[in-house]
Amino acid sequence: MILNNNQITVTSPLLPDLNDFIPLLKDIWDRKWITNNGYYHQQLEEKLADFLGVPYISLFTNGTIPLLVAVQALKLGKDGRNEVITTPYSFVATSNILMWNNLKPVFVDIEPETGNLDPEKIENAITDKTCAILPVHVYGNPCDTAEIKKIADKYDLKVVYDAAHAFNVKQNGKSILTEGDLSTLSFHATKTYNTVEGGAIVCKDKETKDYIDSLKNFGYTSEIYITETGINGKLDEIRSAYGILNLTNINNAIAHRKYVAETYRKALKEISGISFFNEQKNVNYNYSYFPIFVDSSKYWLSRDELFTKLRDRGILSRRYFYPLITNFSPYENIPSASKENLPIANKMADTVLCLPIHHLISDKDLKRIINLILTK
Ligand SMILES: Cc1ncc(COP(=O)(O)O)c(C=O)c1O
Repeated sequence: MILNNNQITVTSPLLPDLNDFIPLLKDIWDRKWITNNGYYHQQLEEKLADFLGVPYISLFTNGTIPLLVAVQALKLGKDGRNEVITTPYSFVATSNILMWNNLKPVFVDIEPETGNLDPEKIENAITDKTCAILPVHVYGNPCDTAEIKKIADKYDLKVVYDAAHAFNVKQNGKSILTEGDLSTLSFHATKTYNTVEGGAIVCKDKETKDYIDSLKNFGYTSEIYITETGINGKLDEIRSAYGILNLTNINNAIAHRKYVAETYRKALKEISGISFFNEQKNVNYNYSYFPIFVDSSKYWLSRDELFTKLRDRGILSRRYFYPLITNFSPYENIPSASKENLPIANKMADTVLCLPIHHLISDKDLKRIINLILTK
């Protein structure tokens, strides 16, 4: 796709200043160490752990391999229990990684208030084969982590949070990335914070970090030993240096996203048939997405008509998350993927539209988008 200057995209990558990046590239060239846990990789891990307020973080080359590695690190499926309870309302990576690990996704419906896995529906889906819960903090909206923990403790289940959207989200002043056994992040170009492609696992102790670090490096524990069959999930020095620079910009970027979200909220709150999530109390959001829901029985256009209207005028909104994961063919035959089992998720997928939100959106852009939504 070729973008023209008049188009407003749903997101725009946060880019470091090229003048700041070039000296770091020169330094990497001088060091001649371009990957394999180099200087910038170690620096970025330290800086991110500090910035996010988490004990340990292990960097990855994208946000999907951390999910694969989390499942391996927790040995899910190894005790004969092979079912994992998860949400259908996410990007496909969340459940694709279960299939790649020969685990069975068991889909549970979501809460209309947050778009997240509904804890009240989890217990019904638990069987003697259930080994874990894989929820997503969708759009950076925190899951009901306390309820999920209660259920996990009661049934001896592991919890991995797919926190791809939840960079630096805090609840009651504490990072939500420390909830569950492990949390995974994506630093893809489309995310609030990016390293071009990249990702991470957040964990609670050094021993787990060392184990994850060996799994992402083919299973090596020393120069001549592998103890597990690991994978290559490493982040290189160039993207690590880029990530260090982007950390200096991220607070301003999030502040601008907040302003964009508040502007949408004020402008769209009175339109019949357009709704959005209420913000939860005591949460510091990262404003990674601004989803609206279009009810065509009250608004004059359907979601798809509004999507097309905006697109034809150069505004590239996105239907995240449509189609629902459970409506993709690899999932169709799983009993829990049926529409009857997931009415709320299906409705959300059919009505959602994510409006442009990023650090470069101007007041003029916002006016253009809002006017198009407000006028027939
Ligand atoms: C919820 C969720 N999980 C996982 C991923 C995978 O991340 P990545 O694209 O960095 O591999 C994404 C990415 O877009 C995502 O939205």
